Amino acid sequence: MKKLENPFLLLGYYGPAYFCNREEELLQLSDHIKNGRNVVLYAWRRLGKSALINRFLQEEEKSENIEAIYIDIMATENTSQAIEAIIEAVCEKYGKTQTGGLSAAFQKLIGSLGVTLSFDSFTGLPSFSIAAHPSQQNEITLNRIGEFLSDKKKQVVIAIDEFQQITSYEEKNVEAIFRQFMQSFPSIRFIFSGSQRNLMTQMFLEKKRPFYKSCQLISLESIPLEKYQPFIEQHFAEAGKKIEPEIIHEIYDWSRGQTYSVQLLCNLLFGANEISQAKLEEIKKSILVQEAPFYSSYQKILTKAQWQVLLAIAREGYAEKVTSKKFLSKHNLAASSTVNSALKTLINNEVVVFEDGKYFVHEVIFGRWLATL
Ligand SMILES: Nc1ncnc2c1ncn2[C@@H]1O[C@H](COP(=O)(O)OP(=O)(O)OP(=O)(O)O)[C@@H](O)[C@H]1O
Ligand SMILES: [Mg+2]
Repeated sequence: MKKLENPFLLLGYYGPAYFCNREEELLQLSDHIKNGRNVVLYAWRRLGKSALINRFLQEEEKSENIEAIYIDIMATENTSQAIEAIIEAVCEKYGKTQTGGLSAAFQKLIGSLGVTLSFDSFTGLPSFSIAAHPSQQNEITLNRIGEFLSDKKKQVVIAIDEFQQITSYEEKNVEAIFRQFMQSFPSIRFIFSGSQRNLMTQMFLEKKRPFYKSCQLISLESIPLEKYQPFIEQHFAEAGKKIEPEIIHEIYDWSRGQTYSVQLLCNLLFGANEISQAKLEEIKKSILVQEAPFYSSYQKILTKAQWQVLLAIAREGYAEKVTSKKFLSKHNLAASSTVNSALKTLINNEVVVFEDGKYFVHEVIFGRWLATL
C-alpha cells in the first residue's frame, strides 16, 4: 500500500496504520458476527462509523473469515433504489468474471429479478434498475438476493450504512420488508449503521417497530484522548515533526473529541510550515471562514426563536438548564415556553443534541462558527 504524504485522512479508511484505536469496538463486532448476532452501530455524526465498518470488513475478509458486502444507502429515496444499491454491491462482489464480464450465476440471478441491466457509457460500469415495484415484488426480489447469498460457502456479511434513510421513504412497511429480509436468512449477518442517532435508536428500540430488539446495539463514542494523543504524536514524529501535547489537547477540545474535526485540524497542521499554537489558531479561523457561506444558510431555514436558542447553546459550548431564568436572561431569550418548543424542533432535527443533562450543537465546526457570531 502506498504511504500517504499526509497521514491524517479526511475520507474513508486506508489501512490500520492510519486508523486510531477502536480495538474494543472491533472485538465487539467480531464477537457478534462470529456468534450469529446482527448489529446496529450508531453514533453522533462523523465519529467514524463508516471507517470502523470498513476496517472491520476488510480485516475479516483478509483473514478469510467472511465475505463482505458494503452498501451506503444515503442517496436512495425508495425501496427500489435501496435494492438497486444492494444488487450493485452484490454484482461488485460476486458478479464479475476474471475477464470483467458478468458471471453466469449472477446473470441468472438478475434474470430472475427482472431488473434492467445497462452499462454506464462513461465508466463502463454496470447499473441496474427495477421499475418501482409494489412492496410484494420488493420482498420477492430481496428474497432471491438472499437465496443467492445464502448459497455462498463463506459467512456473508451485509453492512448497510446510513440505514436511517429507509425511514424517509414514502412507502409503507419498509422497515417490515427489511426486517423480513434479515429474518429470512439467518445464515447472513447484517450490520446496520446510521448517522442520525435518534432515528436509528428509535427504529431498533421502540416496541411497536418491526426491528424491535432484533439486533445488538453498539454505540460509538469519541476516541479517548489517551488513545488519540500517541497516534497523533507518532505520525508527526515519523515525518520528523514535533507536536506539543498542549496543542493536541487544544485540537481535541476544540473538536469536542469528534474524529473528523480532530483529523481535519491535524491534517492542516501537519501540512503547515510550522507547528505552533498560533498556527493552530490561524487554521481554526480559516476553517470557519471557509464554512461560513454554508452555515449562514441555516439562519434562513430556522425561526428566529430557534436561531437564538441555537446561538445561546453554541456560545455556552455545553449548555445546561436552558429554560432557567438565569439562562434566559443571560442570552436575552424569550419566554421559556417559546424556548422549549424551539429546543424541541432543534433536537428533533438533530441540530442540537441533548445528552447527559447537557445541550450542544451537533455539528462541532458549525457550533464553533456560531459561537463567533
Ligand atoms: N479510528 C479512526 N482513526 C483515524 N481517522 C478516523 C478514524 N475513524 C474515522 N476516521 C476519519 O474521520 C472522518 C470521519 O469518519 P467516518 O466518515 O467514518 O465517520 P461517520 O461516523 O461514518 O460519519 P457520518 O456521520 O458523516 O456518516 C473520516 O475522515 C475518517 O477517515
Ligand atoms: Mg458514515
